[in-house]
Amino acid sequence: MLNWDDEVASPSKPAAPQAAATPRPDPAPVYAAEPVAASGLLSGGASNRVNAVDKRIINGQTDVNQLVPFKYKWAWEKYLATCANHWMPQEVNMQRDIELWKSPNGLTEDERRLVKRNLGFFVTADSLAANNIVLGTYRQITAPECRQFLLRQAFEEAIHTHAYQYIVESLGLDEGEVFNAYHEIKSIRDKDEFLIPFIDALTNPEFKTGTPATDQQLLKSLIVFACIMEGLFFYVGFVQILALGRQNKMTGAAEQYQYILRDESMHCNFGIDLINTIKLENPHLWTDSFKAELVELFKKAVDLEYAYAEDTMPRGVLGLNAGMFKEYLRFIANRRMQQIGLDPLFPGETNPFPWMSEMIDLKKEKNFFETRVTEYQSGGALSWD
Ligand SMILES: [Fe+2]
Ligand SMILES: [Fe+2]
Repeated sequence: MLNWDDEVASPSKPAAPQAAATPRPDPAPVYAAEPVAASGLLSGGASNRVNAVDKRIINGQTDVNQLVPFKYKWAWEKYLATCANHWMPQEVNMQRDIELWKSPNGLTEDERRLVKRNLGFFVTADSLAANNIVLGTYRQITAPECRQFLLRQAFEEAIHTHAYQYIVESLGLDEGEVFNAYHEIKSIRDKDEFLIPFIDALTNPEFKTGTPATDQQLLKSLIVFACIMEGLFFYVGFVQILALGRQNKMTGAAEQYQYILRDESMHCNFGIDLINTIKLENPHLWTDSFKAELVELFKKAVDLEYAYAEDTMPRGVLGLNAGMFKEYLRFIANRRMQQIGLDPLFPGETNPFPWMSEMIDLKKEKNFFETRVTEYQSGGALSWD
């Protein structure tokens, strides 16, 4: 079954077991003298057929070009689900947004600041995400089912960058200002500077797994990427634009963000399954000192995202204020930590935005924003009125 579970789940609900990701722990770590080439083409004429039991998420020795037999069915199912969710930015009508943006009294100054700062983060964030996958993560993953998902995910990151660019272009925003915000706006730069060392570690051409230290480095980068970047750093931004949409403002942008949120929710859940499977296959990596290091990263990330919330909403806007985001971020951080087997940092926090669950769960009969008929799924899972 697909896992649509996300941080909006009831706080009383325990972290969903990653049911699909339950391979047997391996008796011993697999450290080959020479990991298989990223291409999977073995020298020396090796032509062995693949046995599913021999596959490993990292440091595997099986041919990565042989997708089947499947071992990690959860990855293949998520790949199919993301394909079924296909959408393109230009399918969304932006006319009402354009009229509202151009109307002198259409939005308050605080709302305009929020939109610009919001886009200022996202226009480059998904390029960072794409680079991390294509230049970093992909070549370290030796399970072809997971590589298949990563290929689809990389394309979705391109669609997201396209969507943000399309909004910027539709509204006639200053492209230089928005696309440079990750250099020029401190609250955005601080988030990216937190992420970049973890991206750089994987995208370094010299980096390869195969020792406990490098395997931990990969695992840490995967956790930062899935649980903190896609799983936490996107959420203030998502709430903001979706809150505008709920007030019948910027409904085209909000519709785009709703699709992006659905994609990102799947990316995050795939990443969590990937992380938990690597843990199961390599239990020696999950040391106390490693866990302590992760806890510190989550603490720092909540602070950075809260600073971004304050910067984008200095006076409170749309019935939202930065204080509500502190609660929300702690709630999400708890959820992410539980999903990978860490104790929550902020026990008892609740979700101040329960309506976000409707946004993530697009298996609804009605489009919340009541825009137009759009059916992106052929299987009937989506029907927008
Ligand atoms: Fe994305
Ligand atoms: Fe993503």
